[in-house]
Amino acid sequence: MSPTAPPTAADADTPFSQRLKTATWSDHESAEYHGFTQALLDGTLPLDGYTAMVAQHYFAYAALEEAGRALADDPVAGRFSYPALLRVPALVADLEHLVGPDWRDRVSPTPATRTYVARLQRMADSPEGFVAHHYTRYMGDVSGGQFIRRVVAQAYGLTGAGLSFYVFDGLGSLPRFRADYRARLDSLELAPEAAERLIGEARLAYRLNTEVLADLGRVHTPGPSARP
Ligand code: HEM
Repeated sequence: MSPTAPPTAADADTPFSQRLKTATWSDHESAEYHGFTQALLDGTLPLDGYTAMVAQHYFAYAALEEAGRALADDPVAGRFSYPALLRVPALVADLEHLVGPDWRDRVSPTPATRTYVARLQRMADSPEGFVAHHYTRYMGDVSGGQFIRRVVAQAYGLTGAGLSFYVFDGLGSLPRFRADYRARLDSLELAPEAAERLIGEARLAYRLNTEVLADLGRVHTPGPSARP
């Protein structure tokens, strides 16, 4: 899926949110056009592949949201504390549904997820780095994630339980939320080096996510069709 034309190159007057998107869009494409992601999007990924992805999300969001709690009072990172974004409760509910009540004994992080989690844990001391990881995951979840939600609902016949990760009822209008989020990015007034650090960390965040997808893709290959 190619949602929009690639963002155009940035100049000095370009809002930071636009610079960030422009600088990371090629990394986004690597994640979006990965084999595992494509199998998910075209409905050929068996349900256990989807379940494995939900489990890997759980480990990553637990680390991301823990770092967010540590930075709640930080003047930069604290601006991105939206309680309705928090995904761990939804992931726990989804894993209970998809794996069962003993899911904690049955899921474990892949090597790439361990690497990603270790990086996320370091962000508790790095407000700009935290914002980069926050942006890469949550803005994706409220953008392309909403498309994935529809595909997953159809492919696996899920209605509520099992895909609550993609449901952000507490945020209200998602287009309005995305505009608010970009306005917060634009209001950061970062020094040039801090802005570059944030962009560099967002590119790393994409690569770490793509490695998680690669780990999953080595184990979970597309079947003929997951659609009922
Ligand atoms: C699974 C396949 C994916 C699809 C179909 C997809 C699709 C999209 C779409 C349609 C947008 C909105 C683009 C726009 O505003 O013009 C978007 C934005 C975004 N996606 Fe994805 N995406 C996918 C995977 C990912 C992954 C794996 C990540 C990161 C881990 C990600 C992170 C983002 C971010 C951060 C944005 C917001 C960009 C911005 O407006 O600044 N996406 N995606």
